[in-house]
Amino acid sequence: MKAAGIVTLLAAAANGLQVDFSSDDSIKQAASTVAYGLLKYYTGNNTGDTPGNLPDPYFWWEAGAMFGTMIDYWFYTGDESYVDVTAQAMIHQVGDDKDYMPTNQTRTMGNDDQGFWAMAAMSAAENGFANPPPDQPQWLALVQAVFNEYG
Ligand SMILES: *[C@@H]1O[C@H](CO)[C@@H](O)[C@H](O)[C@H]1NC(C)=O
Ligand SMILES: *[C@@H]1O[C@H](CO)[C@@H](O)[C@H](O)[C@H]1NC(C)=O
Repeated sequence: MKAAGIVTLLAAAANGLQVDFSSDDSIKQAASTVAYGLLKYYTGNNTGDTPGNLPDPYFWWEAGAMFGTMIDYWFYTGDESYVDVTAQAMIHQVGDDKDYMPTNQTRTMGNDDQGFWAMAAMSAAENGFANPPPDQPQWLALVQAVFNEYG
């Protein structure tokens, strides 16, 4: 009874999102609603905006966490709706040294900030998210670059 109460509370907190955890379709439908809602915050793919950035007041690391979530979402659901926008962001934020230390962010960047992008790239490498074009650094190499630059 207690568990049921908590589930009801969570469902209510998530704005009436109803999930039947015994049904793959229901889980995917709910995840799709959440993914759509998450990407509504994103403007980086608008003309003139910077791919990979979230608008103020969101930080660069939060965008990294968001795209890591989108890669996991793609992997677990098979929904390809956000693959292009995710790949564009992940590739645009690669730094000049083939890492996740883009010049625009270096003023405020710490290991933890890069870590969110590296974990997104690691998820991409592990789950077979399509690599960047061959003339650009691949997901695994990007993760290794972040690791190697940690000091
Ligand atoms: C940006 O991506 C979102 C999510 O895929 C999409 O809904 C939106 O139409 C895209 N905007 C542009 C300008 O392509
Ligand atoms: C850095 O900022 C400039 C100016 O806003 C932008 O054009 C460029 O795409 C940004 N680069 C990255 C990697 O975000």
